[in-house]
Amino acid sequence: MPAFRNIFGAALFLFMAAAAANEVDKRQVIPLSEHQRDHVLTEMRALLSGTRNILDALSRDEMAVVAREADSLGLGMAGKGEDHLGSILPGEFMRLGMSVHQDFDNIARDARSIKDPKHTLRQLSEAMKKCDSCHAGYQIRVKERSPGVETSPAHGHQPHHQHQH
Ligand code: HEC
Repeated sequence: MPAFRNIFGAALFLFMAAAAANEVDKRQVIPLSEHQRDHVLTEMRALLSGTRNILDALSRDEMAVVAREADSLGLGMAGKGEDHLGSILPGEFMRLGMSVHQDFDNIARDARSIKDPKHTLRQLSEAMKKCDSCHAGYQIRVKERSPGVETSPAHGHQPHHQHQH
């Protein structure tokens, strides 16, 4: 490889080498056990299918069904399992998650009182911005657990224990 023409070439090379060593997925890693990950992802799939059910009911102007489906995604849903994850998940993550559940409670309330599908659609669209922004910011990885050794799934992000024996 030809010598670097100047300091900028050298800097560019270093920059690219550093980038190549980095993770492809740059979202903040949340290290969870297999079990905890399954718990969070199961809730995520419930959020997706519940949202779909709300849209389905909206397309038929069935506001009572909208309310029932939205209820199932409200803070009551969060109460079921997130308490023990509350200390593990990052604070901002928890705040966003709770605020989505709160949105679904509001959607249920308005579907019962205002009963306007357009209003519900606007609320749903606003709530789903939070799905977007959380997904843009975080990823879940399974913590590896081999006896006596704690390996970090977030290579390069967290200090490693010494391996040089
Ligand atoms: C507070 C953060 C947060 C919010 C809010 C959030 N999610 Fe997620 N969701 C995640 C994370 C983290 C993952 C895992 C992403 C990864 O590891 O790549 C995920 C994964 C998913 C998955 C994939 C599930 C699987 O089995 O792999 C679906 C579907 C999903 N979310 C739907 C939704 C929907 C719909 C909403 C909004 C109504 C939502 N999520 C709101 C954090 C969030």
